[in-house]
Amino acid sequence: MLVANRAIGQTGYWIAAVFSVLVALASFRFLVWGVPATMEIVAHNLDGNRLALYGHIGFAPVALAVMPFQFLKGLRARKPHIHRWLGRIYVAAIAISGISGLILAFTTIAGTFAGFGFGILAVIWLGTTGAALVFALKRDFARHRVWMIRSAALTFAAVTLRLQLPIGFASGAEFSSFYPIVAWSSWVPNAILAEIYLFWMRQLWQRPPAEAQVRA
Ligand code: HEM
Repeated sequence: MLVANRAIGQTGYWIAAVFSVLVALASFRFLVWGVPATMEIVAHNLDGNRLALYGHIGFAPVALAVMPFQFLKGLRARKPHIHRWLGRIYVAAIAISGISGLILAFTTIAGTFAGFGFGILAVIWLGTTGAALVFALKRDFARHRVWMIRSAALTFAAVTLRLQLPIGFASGAEFSSFYPIVAWSSWVPNAILAEIYLFWMRQLWQRPPAEAQVRA
């Protein structure tokens, strides 16, 4: 049973990691073909809101691409300096893209409901990542891990959003009617799943060390 759980966990990790890197790479399409041709929904920001636009689409994919590497146990153990450097890049990318994402949330043409969805996501993305950084600096690595799992679940919203868009299109609904829903459904389930995972892991972490080791 435990072996099966571990296999499921590892398969899930690798699928999520591949999607994260692919979505991050695809997000840089604007560098080749430009924003108007590739990201119509945000192109209006080119007029007067360029800094926030490029701050977001230039740096959020960096955080998404780096994120899966931070969960590689082997890399953390064998090359801790790489983990620390990638961590700095992850946090800096989120600081820039989170603040600019919050600005974009105010300027979205998708309406107030979508704006609130993206806006709240931006605030908790910055908050969870900031908390994870503070605990790393305090060398409280148990709490650092918990807050980074929360942060990563929100970073992964970029993937879940892009997986949900084709479902919206396939449903035949108008983009303008399903996009505001996706502004919430792209991250609320991720946040809930992260809490369920943390609840489940806490049971494991609180066991006496010998038993926890056998089960880990
Ligand atoms: C997790 C917090 C995030 C927030 C709050 C956020 C917020 C936003 C907002 C408000 C927009 C504009 C949407 C509109 O005007 O309707 C946007 C677009 C965009 N975001 Fe994010 N975002 C987040 C994460 C990410 C991540 C991790 C990536 C990495 C790939 C990303 C990449 C993009 C791209 C490429 C666009 C342009 C439109 C598109 O291609 O779909 N975002 N984001």
